[in-house]
Amino acid sequence: MLADASSSLFFPPEQSTFAADVDGLFDFIYYLSAFFFIAIIAVMILFVLRYHRRKGHVEQPSASHNEVLEITWSVIPSILVGFIFFYGFTKYLDMREPPDNAYEIQVIAKQWSWQFIYPNGADSDELHIPVNQPVRFILQSSDVLHSFYIPAFRIKMDCVPQRYTNTWVIAKDITGEGKDNSEHKPYDLFCAEYCGKDHSRMLAKVYVHEQSDFDAWLEDAANYLEGKTPEEGGKLAFEKKGCTQCHSVTGDNSAKYAGPPLNGQWGTERSVIARGASSPENVVMDENYIRESVREPNAKVVVGRKPIMPVFTPQQLKDNEITAIIAYLKSLK
Ligand code: CUA
Repeated sequence: MLADASSSLFFPPEQSTFAADVDGLFDFIYYLSAFFFIAIIAVMILFVLRYHRRKGHVEQPSASHNEVLEITWSVIPSILVGFIFFYGFTKYLDMREPPDNAYEIQVIAKQWSWQFIYPNGADSDELHIPVNQPVRFILQSSDVLHSFYIPAFRIKMDCVPQRYTNTWVIAKDITGEGKDNSEHKPYDLFCAEYCGKDHSRMLAKVYVHEQSDFDAWLEDAANYLEGKTPEEGGKLAFEKKGCTQCHSVTGDNSAKYAGPPLNGQWGTERSVIARGASSPENVVMDENYIRESVREPNAKVVVGRKPIMPVFTPQQLKDNEITAIIAYLKSLK
């Protein structure tokens, strides 16, 4: 835990400029509710003890009207809920309105991985952002409802198929590079909307960098295939794009993986159902089959598998990345 980051009773350390306000309002509502809960139960118990029916107790008529009491119990709660509304609404507006100079990152949610695309065309499966700089996230989903949730930032927003949603944040502190020996650990990013079998594995890490480190990371991320052999580059692309979520490369064909294992498959035949066809046909796993399976996964679906593989557009997976992945799959025995 960071020394300078405050945390509340219920939440992780406050790592965005919104966090203190969100926690402040949450704590206010929570303790206010706790106060009234205890006060109401206490008075109720007191009244039960004092006024319950017992021998020799004479029944008294109910008071019909008490102006002072009625004004008190109307005015005080009205002020309290008015304050909660005003404070909550103004802070909510702040959270909905990113500044004009916000840095923009595209977020693509799919069953079951996250993909982040940066303005220079780089993309990653972990989120990297600069510190102390407004960052706007433009969210989309390739398939079903997901929810983009970063508890340390106190932001959560649905990813909805067929439309864009957005949210933004200013991160307060830098984090380490994913090493557990770092004092500044990366933050967790969760999917917070049940989206199918592997919803609970739809996770990512969030890294916050100094601006200069971020620029260097971004440059590297855009050119990650450079200086690698096609097999090495393909392995990196295969992992970065989330392929490993659904495809094993060890022959593991268990229910843990939604898709077929991909090692030892190159050049072999498989039985598939082509789109619109009623009977299966055999196809060979070659370059064009892999390319088609990535760009148009439902064109041919392996018999016994569900048509659930997400489409990878050229923006999400470039042609040279497909070529590298093909080289990698060829090399898998
Ligand atoms: Cu995606 Cu739950």
